[in-house]
Amino acid sequence: MIPYLDHHATTPLDPQVLEAMMPYFTTAFGNAASINHAYGRAAAEAVETARGQVAALVGVEPRCVVFTSGATEANNLAIKGVMRAAPAGSHIITTAAEHRAVLDPAKRLKRAGCEVTVLPVDVHGVVDVGRIAEALTPRTVLVSVMAANNEVGSLSPLNEIGRVCRNRGVLFHTDAAQALGRVPLDLSSMPIDLLSGSAHKLYGPKGIGCLIVRRGEPRIRIEPLFDGGGHEQHLRSGTLPVPLIVGFGCACDIATRERDAETVRLRELRDRLWTGLTSRVGGLLLNGHPTERLAGNLNFSVEGVDGEALMTSLTEIAVSSGSACTTADPEPSHVLRAMGRSDRLTRASLRLGIGRFNTQEEVDFAGSYVAAQIERLRGMNHPGHSK
Ligand SMILES: Cc1ncc(COP(=O)(O)O)c(C=O)c1O
Repeated sequence: MIPYLDHHATTPLDPQVLEAMMPYFTTAFGNAASINHAYGRAAAEAVETARGQVAALVGVEPRCVVFTSGATEANNLAIKGVMRAAPAGSHIITTAAEHRAVLDPAKRLKRAGCEVTVLPVDVHGVVDVGRIAEALTPRTVLVSVMAANNEVGSLSPLNEIGRVCRNRGVLFHTDAAQALGRVPLDLSSMPIDLLSGSAHKLYGPKGIGCLIVRRGEPRIRIEPLFDGGGHEQHLRSGTLPVPLIVGFGCACDIATRERDAETVRLRELRDRLWTGLTSRVGGLLLNGHPTERLAGNLNFSVEGVDGEALMTSLTEIAVSSGSACTTADPEPSHVLRAMGRSDRLTRASLRLGIGRFNTQEEVDFAGSYVAAQIERLRGMNHPGHSK
């Protein structure tokens, strides 16, 4: 198998997580709502243990955890849920570097009559806190700013943003899909009201995530996205996917124990990769904040090569490009564009995401391999000038 360096897209399941999940696919198959018998009670207990593990990772009480199908749903629940429970014409503020799972719900709300402000970001992809403060109006109900950017890894100043919101009585939501388990998020001390997370970004299974909802006064009013059996304190109806929840809990538990050491290791590998690349070829421009960024993230633009040619040349490693390559006509990344990169450089950008199971050998291989491909492509553009 080729080295996997795309850990922002998804992470492999940790073997410990798979082991924890297995019984809930087989013998312990009960419905967590059927607590009148032993099967159901075993499932319900497993769900509550997992809820505690997720809660512990972010320093909240277990009742703050609402299980969803992932961060997309959690973002939709936070944004549409809060705005639909608020008076008509209420105002939401977000940023141009958010994931589509935030920007698209905001767009839909705009069509439904909400006022939406999408703030620009700086060259590192980070929003200026002062601009948030300026954009607040008496009708602002919610501010949504991601914790860590999924493309360039930049970290947002969550405490500062949260403080501005608290002072003005506005709710603060953060999409922490990339940050959960990767950077410290202690909501017992951070002014965050709502936080979205996703298990498959932290070595858990796909199809499960959570919205963390601050409890206490003033109460956060959220309109559920769909109606049904009233599960998850009436915020997310639907039979709980017990094996996935158990896996999510286990993944959070591992992250609680290993996050700090893992961060150090990933940062070393990431820096080694960057040094390996820049010592071999010139014309690489780092994207994202130079220091305030995810440890495993490396995103850069390559001068003097065609983006599509670069991507198609990289067959020996699994990485991601600066384009959303899910469509036949790849769109340049809206994040890199918002940071001011030209379309050409945006297309000629690579995102490498280093993760838990990557080795130094894989990283060294990636460095020399990517550098060699860049040189080769530049040589093709300028025959005789391959150096
Ligand atoms: C920042 C961010 N938000 C939301 C999502 C969507 O998460 P999920 O796949 O759990 O729906 C992702 C995943 O790509 C992400 O990186």
